[in-house]
Amino acid sequence: MTDLARRVAEAADLVTVALDELLPRADGPESRLTEAMRYAALGPGKRLRTYFALETGRMFGLPERSVLRSACALECIQAYSLIHDDLPCMDDDDMRRGRPTVHRAYDEATAVLAGDALQTAAFEILAHPDTHPDGATRAELVSRLARASGAQGMCGGQMIDILGVRDDLGGVARMQRLKTGALIACAFELPLVMARAKEAERHALLAFAHDLGLAYQIVDDLLDAEGDPEAMGKAAGKDAAKGKANFVTLLGVEAARERLGLLRKQTKDHLDPFGAQAEFLRASVDFVLERRH
Ligand code: IPE
Ligand code: IPE
Ligand code: MG
Ligand code: MG
Ligand code: MG
Repeated sequence: MTDLARRVAEAADLVTVALDELLPRADGPESRLTEAMRYAALGPGKRLRTYFALETGRMFGLPERSVLRSACALECIQAYSLIHDDLPCMDDDDMRRGRPTVHRAYDEATAVLAGDALQTAAFEILAHPDTHPDGATRAELVSRLARASGAQGMCGGQMIDILGVRDDLGGVARMQRLKTGALIACAFELPLVMARAKEAERHALLAFAHDLGLAYQIVDDLLDAEGDPEAMGKAAGKDAAKGKANFVTLLGVEAARERLGLLRKQTKDHLDPFGAQAEFLRASVDFVLERRH
């Protein structure tokens, strides 16, 4: 295992343990809901948003406990977005993270509610004083995550995805920025807010996040086109089958790969101002580009 793979695995363990403590348990009939939330949020996700947040926190010398709570909030939104993305009215998928999707393991109503309750759990976690001692900072964190998740972020992107962009690379790029880019960028934004980072640092790191998010989605689209469903833990070939426009259905596999090749250096270059401190964020670009799941 490389140092980077070990750090990603450690981040995943940390956030899973923290989520296990933070997510509610219940005794009454509502335990069906809390179990479904746990099934989704504690499942084997890659936890890359957590990794990005923790590494950024380290770069700025932030207390890990605070950053980890932000990562928990991000992973709650991520889990909620995936539960809803897999519903029959959206992508209609049966497998996620190598296991039946929530509406398959439970039922549709439970899946909708588990997504809803994970979303509100995210904001409850961020708003708690343990996340940051200063109330105004907590309000800023809440507002950043809300924006990245809502109509101007993930939900807006999902709407564009469902409506379908046609034959237009600019349109696909905009959809990606909202659908997945915003939440990935938020993994950097939240620690940046806590660190009260300088404008130049903010700018550099968000430019990095932007290109990284783009690369992330191109890889997701490539995996959808030619990945191994076993390794990915989710079905492949769904985008083309549904006639969805994405980077690969529009550009083709070769051109999408070429674009990724260009993005590799461009993305890393944004980290130049951080020097050796950004070593593990820099290496994570290769990790994202070479992922098989
Ligand atoms: C899946 O996200 C949806 C996209 C952003 C393309 P991930 O690939 O990060 O999924 P998990 O959280 O690791 O399962
Ligand atoms: C969904 O994108 C991203 C979300 C906002 C949940 P996809 O529909 O491409 O994600 P997968 O391929 O099902 O993981
Ligand atoms: Mg989708
Ligand atoms: Mg999907
Ligand atoms: Mg996909």
